[in-house]
Amino acid sequence: MKDFLLHIRSRIIWSVYQYVLKPVFFRLDPEDVHDHTVALGAHLGKYALTRALTRGLFYYSDSMLVQDVLGVKFINPVGLAAGFDKNAELTGILPSVGFGFVEVGSITGYPCAGNPKPRLWRLKKSKGLVVYYGLKNDGCEIISKRLSAKVRGGALSYLGCRVGTSVAMTNCAANVDYTTAILDYAKAFEAFDTIGSYFTINISCPNAENGQPFLESRRLEALLTKLDMIPTTKPVFIKLSPDITLKNVDAILDVAKRHRVHGIICTNLTKKRNNARILDANLPSHGGVSGLPVQGLSDDLIAHIYKREGKRFVLVGCGGIFSAEDAYRKIRLGASLVQLITGMIFEGPQLVSEINRGLVKLMKRDGYTHISEVIGVDVR
Ligand SMILES: Cc1cc2nc3c(=O)[nH]c(=O)nc-3n(C[C@H](O)[C@H](O)[C@H](O)COP(=O)(O)O)c2cc1C
Repeated sequence: MKDFLLHIRSRIIWSVYQYVLKPVFFRLDPEDVHDHTVALGAHLGKYALTRALTRGLFYYSDSMLVQDVLGVKFINPVGLAAGFDKNAELTGILPSVGFGFVEVGSITGYPCAGNPKPRLWRLKKSKGLVVYYGLKNDGCEIISKRLSAKVRGGALSYLGCRVGTSVAMTNCAANVDYTTAILDYAKAFEAFDTIGSYFTINISCPNAENGQPFLESRRLEALLTKLDMIPTTKPVFIKLSPDITLKNVDAILDVAKRHRVHGIICTNLTKKRNNARILDANLPSHGGVSGLPVQGLSDDLIAHIYKREGKRFVLVGCGGIFSAEDAYRKIRLGASLVQLITGMIFEGPQLVSEINRGLVKLMKRDGYTHISEVIGVDVR
C-alpha cells in the first residue's frame, strides 16, 4: 500500500513536471532557469515548514540502501553531482528532495566568473546538456564560510544527507603554469579540511583555460604529493574524464595508489563530438556534453576500474542516469554510489526518490537484501 501511494505521488509530480513546468523551462535560457531554480531552492531550504513540505512531496528511505562507505554513513546511494550547487546554497533543501549526498562546487582557490555567456545549452534529442561554465563559483573562502555557518547551525547533515566538496583550480591565465595551479588546488583543499564528509579533486573539467593538465600522471603525482601534506580525515576521490585512453586511466590509478586517494568518480563531461548518442545538430564547438551521451562511457570506465582494482577504490558512477535501472547497472558494474544532474533536469526532481525506490524493487527481484551485495556482481 505504501509503495502504491509513493508511486502515485511520483506519477503526479512527474506529470506536472513533464506537461507544465518542463515545457516552460525548456523555452527559457538554460542558465537563467538554473539560476532561478537555485535561488528558489536556497529560499525553500531556509525554513522548517518548506523543508517539511518538500520532504512530504519527495522523500524516500529504506534500510536496504544505507551504507557505510569509507567510514561515512550514506542513507542512500544517490547523490547530486558537482556543478548544480556550485556555491553550496542548496544543502538546506536537497536532503528533503531525497538525495543521500550532495557534491558542492567545483570550488576553486579564488572566485571565478567562469567563461563568457552563453555557456549552457540543451540537447533535447540526445537528452544531454552542453556545459561551458568554466568553473564559475564564489571561491573557497566565501564558500567555506557559508558551509561552516551551516555546520555550526547543525544544518549540514540534515536528514543524514552528506555533503562532499569538489575542488578544482581557478580558471585563469596564471594557472597555465601547473605549479601555480597546484597551489590553487591546495588553497581550496585546505579551506575544507574539516568541513563536509568527503573531498573530490576535479582533474577533468573540460572547460578551463589550461585544459586538463592533471590527467597526465607525472603532473597528477605532483598535485597529489602536495595535497597529501594537508591533514584531513575526509576520504578523497578523484574525478576522471570519460575521454582518456585506458592506458591513461591505468597510469592515473597507479599514481592514485601511491597517494591519499580512496575513490574514483566515473565520470565528468565528454568533450568528444563523435559520439553515436549525440543526436542533435549544430552543437557548439566548445563545452562538455552530459547526460545520455556519457552513459556508456561512464559504465565502461566503472567496469574497467572495478575489474582491475576490485575494492581498492570506492567507485562513484556518474553520467547519464535517468532511471533506477541506469543506477542499478552502474552499481552492478562496481559503483558503490551514483550521482546525477541531467536526468533530474529532463525527468524532474522526483527522479531521485524514484531511483531509490526502484533500486529497492530491483534488489528484491534479484534476491538481494542489501545494496552492498550488488556492487560489482556483473564484473568477474
Ligand atoms: C550544468 C553542469 C555543470 C557542471 N559543473 C561541474 C563542475 O563544476 N565540476 C565537476 O566536477 N563536474 C561538473 N559537471 C559534470 C557533472 O558533475 C557530471 O559529471 C556530468 O554532468 C555527468 O552526469 P549527468 O549525465 O548525470 O549530468 C557539470 C555538469 C553540468 C550539467
